Amino acid sequence: MAYKITLIPGDGIGPEVTRAAVRILEATGIKFSWETFAAGAEAFEKYHEYIPKELTESIERTRVGLKGPVTTPIGGGFASINVQLRKQFELYANFRPISNLPHIPTRYPRVDLIIVRENTESLYSGIEHEVVPGVVESLKIITEKASTRIARFAFEYARKYKRKKVHAIHKANIMKMSDGLFLRCSRAVAKDYPEITYGEHIVDNTCMQLVMNPYQYDLLVMENLYGDIISDLCAAFVGGLGFVPGANFGDHCAIFEAVHGSAPDIAGKDIANPTAVIRSALLMLHHLGEENAAARIQMALENVYRTKDKLTRDVGGSAGTSQFADYVIEEMEALKPAEANSMARS
Ligand code: NAI
Repeated sequence: MAYKITLIPGDGIGPEVTRAAVRILEATGIKFSWETFAAGAEAFEKYHEYIPKELTESIERTRVGLKGPVTTPIGGGFASINVQLRKQFELYANFRPISNLPHIPTRYPRVDLIIVRENTESLYSGIEHEVVPGVVESLKIITEKASTRIARFAFEYARKYKRKKVHAIHKANIMKMSDGLFLRCSRAVAKDYPEITYGEHIVDNTCMQLVMNPYQYDLLVMENLYGDIISDLCAAFVGGLGFVPGANFGDHCAIFEAVHGSAPDIAGKDIANPTAVIRSALLMLHHLGEENAAARIQMALENVYRTKDKLTRDVGGSAGTSQFADYVIEEMEALKPAEANSMARS
């Protein structure tokens, strides 16, 4: 039986990088049945809807999506498709693992951090209005329900994957009510996980602490805006946004996507780096329980990263997007299944 997956290639470099990821996924031998849809401006031209009904119905059916970046107009136009999808499907947990790849020069080797970001509220509620001309109010919404839910997600992940520490990140010294509530919920959930060390750090201090010594953290959980900023800061530890995968989890479905944008400056040139989408596809395989296939791709990807010539231009190589996918597939074929199986078990 094939896995039914909703595929949103996206805009700009999206179709190129998702095509590379799809080819690699198919090279595992696992059967996929892709339901492909446009979103955003392209969808509007075709269906007069930014998120077409057919796309919504597909996600409701498949419960798993793989998504490329979608262009969002700045300072006007339609709301971010990502934010809309997260709200529509109640994808409350944004999950970003931060880890190095070989041969990518970074300030810190062997970083291994997890960022869990609440995805549905805080200042991203989008509740803004003009109070009087020249004064705009933007509301930060924090609820007990969403704060408890995201803390539970973080601790459950920590327990399942044997993470030792969870830090709740906040600014409750200033936003005593909203961030205060977030902290109270995190503390209450932490009590159910006595084997995990729980800590609390103020968000500005966290930025400094991360840059001084990222190894002091293990898993960080926070509200939406802090999560947006801190997860990009952490991406810099492993070479930038081009390397970091992302996943958005709800109780009923999950959408996997790279964190970089549609890169209109390099779109259509077959030079974009597909690594972040490939790593997002790996998260999807873990979600589907396909651990061996995920391990095989992970090993192949790391092997490709050991040869500079096989890399894309942004990291000093000369390979095109599709050629990079060819190299990963060649490495997958060269790997003995036993090697990947033993990696999946370790
Ligand atoms: P961007 O990430 O698209 O580009 C920033 C810089 O990084 C550019 O120089 C670009 O060429 C480079 N870059 C990005 N991804 C790359 C890749 N895979 N390989 C090689 N180089 C890469 O960010 P920007 O310019 O701020 O946003 C462009 C558009 O993307 C905007 O409309 C924005 O709203 C949208 N966007 C969409 C996201 C999503 O759908 N998940 C996330 C972030 C931005």
